[in-house]
Amino acid sequence: MRITRRVGAALVATALLSVAACGGGGGSGSGEGEVEVFTWWAEGSEKEGLDALVGVFEEQNPDLEFVNGAVAGGAGSEAKNVLASRLQTNDPPGTFQAHAGAELTDYIVQDDIEPISDMYEEKGWNELFPEGLLEQLDQDGEIYSVPSNIHRANVVWANPAVLQKAGVDPEATYASLDEWFAALDKVEASGAIPLSIATDWTQVHLLETVLLADLGEEAYNGLWDGSTDWGSAEVTAALEDYAKLLEYTNSDRQSLDWPDATQLVIDGKAGFNVMGDWAEAAFATQDKEFGTDYVTFPVPGTDGVFDFLADSFTMPVGAPNPGATEAWLDTVASAEGQTAFNKAKGSIPANTEADTSDFGPYQQTAIESFQQDAIVSSLAHGAAASVSWLTDITAAVSKFGSTGDVAGLQEGLVSAAEQHLES
Ligand code: BGC
Repeated sequence: MRITRRVGAALVATALLSVAACGGGGGSGSGEGEVEVFTWWAEGSEKEGLDALVGVFEEQNPDLEFVNGAVAGGAGSEAKNVLASRLQTNDPPGTFQAHAGAELTDYIVQDDIEPISDMYEEKGWNELFPEGLLEQLDQDGEIYSVPSNIHRANVVWANPAVLQKAGVDPEATYASLDEWFAALDKVEASGAIPLSIATDWTQVHLLETVLLADLGEEAYNGLWDGSTDWGSAEVTAALEDYAKLLEYTNSDRQSLDWPDATQLVIDGKAGFNVMGDWAEAAFATQDKEFGTDYVTFPVPGTDGVFDFLADSFTMPVGAPNPGATEAWLDTVASAEGQTAFNKAKGSIPANTEADTSDFGPYQQTAIESFQQDAIVSSLAHGAAASVSWLTDITAAVSKFGSTGDVAGLQEGLVSAAEQHLES
């Protein structure tokens, strides 16, 4: 299920083939009435992304009503619980957001969503998306959702003015975390927050990028299939680096979500923030200029790797108005929908036919990296591990935030892996 380097080649090949394929707008989803779309894109720049997609949906389906079922909370921290209880009580929305990869597998195994492989065949969607991404959506030969975007998780967002004031070269990139610590020390000495962060899930997000930086691509991948030992000295060293990074962060982190942490960089109160590239939309919606008001680089030690995640939309079992859900999926799949949505969301289109010529300079770097780099699966965003494994990892990370006990953190991670790799 994991995306490999082949994705790059597949993407290029698909892009070449796509010249002959049709544009894919409109589609045959139909009906009247409404479709409730359940996401966690409830506010701020994420809502602007959703609004852009809804704009295309309404244009393509003047007779259907979009109902916004969004539940606030970054990375679905609240939404996933609300969704789980709705699914349990047979009250599914028209469609819901789910990450490609292990998280999607959870919903498939629980029989929460319908296979839609027939739709893929009928509508030619198999030709629209990169092969490696289709593999992440596939369970035993069936496909269950339509990807709306591709996000990169291993990105550092930095404020050049804050760095300059601290005597740090804003154009510098760092080959390793050790090199980065020296810059973080300087920002700390200048009085700014060196590294902004928010509540638990953003700490898991940081941890995943540190594991990737220190273990490298192969051993990082091995964490998810048992071939890398969570109890090893290499993982201890990575956890020590994580502990060190956490010391550079803002003390009010538990009361913030990602937009607040990214805002600290935007406002010149913090030097750096590690965040997925939905942060791009936060800078863009505040008219910040890439290269002047903010700079980005891969998390030190992860250059050449694209830490991947994708949102996708499902056909729930028992969806109240399947024709309307199909119409939503048509819009999500369409080149037009993907161009409008991804431009506003900071991500890159999953549909290889979507026009990206008008995308900003940060997004061009992501497009290039996705084509060239090794691709690994994000932990914090449902690609690498099941929801229940991620919940256990998050509990260990959260506890560490108050204890600072590296050995305890590693024990927690080892026991979570033992439990979930067995099941
Ligand atoms: C989602 C993104 C979203 C981010 C922050 C991720 O899990 O895939 O679409 O912007 O969480 O909420």
